[in-house]
Amino acid sequence: MKKIKLNDNCQIPILGLGTFKNNDEKTVVKTILSALKIGYRHIDTAKAYHNEKYIGNALKLSELKREEYFLTTKIKIHPNQDVVRKLINESLKDLQTKYLDLVLIHWPSHDHNLNYETYQVLEEYYEKGIIKSIGVSNFSIHHLKELILRAKIKPQINQVELHPGLNQLPLQKFLISENIALQSYGPFMKGNVFTGSYFDTLNEIAKKYDATIAQIVIAWGLNRNIIMIPMSTNPINLASNFLAKNIKLTEEDIEKINNLNAGRRVYTDPDNNSIYLYKE
Ligand SMILES: NC(=O)c1ccc[n+]([C@@H]2O[C@H](COP(=O)([O-])OP(=O)(O)OC[C@H]3O[C@@H](n4cnc5c(N)ncnc54)[C@H](OP(=O)(O)O)[C@@H]3O)[C@@H](O)[C@H]2O)c1
Repeated sequence: MKKIKLNDNCQIPILGLGTFKNNDEKTVVKTILSALKIGYRHIDTAKAYHNEKYIGNALKLSELKREEYFLTTKIKIHPNQDVVRKLINESLKDLQTKYLDLVLIHWPSHDHNLNYETYQVLEEYYEKGIIKSIGVSNFSIHHLKELILRAKIKPQINQVELHPGLNQLPLQKFLISENIALQSYGPFMKGNVFTGSYFDTLNEIAKKYDATIAQIVIAWGLNRNIIMIPMSTNPINLASNFLAKNIKLTEEDIEKINNLNAGRRVYTDPDNNSIYLYKE
């Protein structure tokens, strides 16, 4: 599996597994074990997904060594840094690990100082080696610029909504200039890539590569050097999504998918969200 080298020299497998809305204990354990068997070595979770304990149990059952997989979690912002420390400590305990490969601030606030105060705790854990890489999620360019001004340690990743309806090319250009890696979430656009105006183009390209639409969407991200974390609990989809890593799209086909962009969000708008704050 190809890995992306982050600006701190840590490496992240370019294709991983998302776990949002997978929070039934049996399903989580089953999914993680099947994914690891298929070859996934990168798992994305968040405190807010309420599945860290089950993921921790599954990873223990897998008997893989800790250094054999990459584990990301996300925490929300809180004005009290002790609460942020408590959240990270809980994630470490629930995931049954001494360190996390990556921790992201889940959502930005409008208050740039508040964003930095939570990020400062990530920097503290990074310096202690308990978190190997740190970053953000759902940060727009203006959120990032303000954070970079304040940060001691530059964020290594920004994880954002990114799919054929929202290609995030301007954000990617900015991140490349800052040497920050781009990670996509919601690649299937809540099902919209399988229907309507997106279907015809994606299906035509899929036929050309003898692939599925889901594989083409994942491959489009991977071919743009974007870290992809599609979610599935279905063993057939898990296996077929994983094979997208082998698809090399032509520049022309990448461009055709880029051109489907409609600036269309199907998740929360980071500039207009009320879900950034951690509530006990
Ligand atoms: N940072 C953030 O704020 C944020 C927000 C949202 C998501 N995320 C992360 O990004 C990950 C991915 O996003 P997401 O889970 O929202 O959406 P997604 O990966 O775009 O879509 C998941 C859905 O697609 C279906 N699916 C998966 N593979 C398929 C295939 N080959 N063919 C047809 N359907 C398929 C899944 O159903 P089956 O289970 O039946 O396959 C599931 O219903 C999340 O799990 C989470 O880890 C982060």
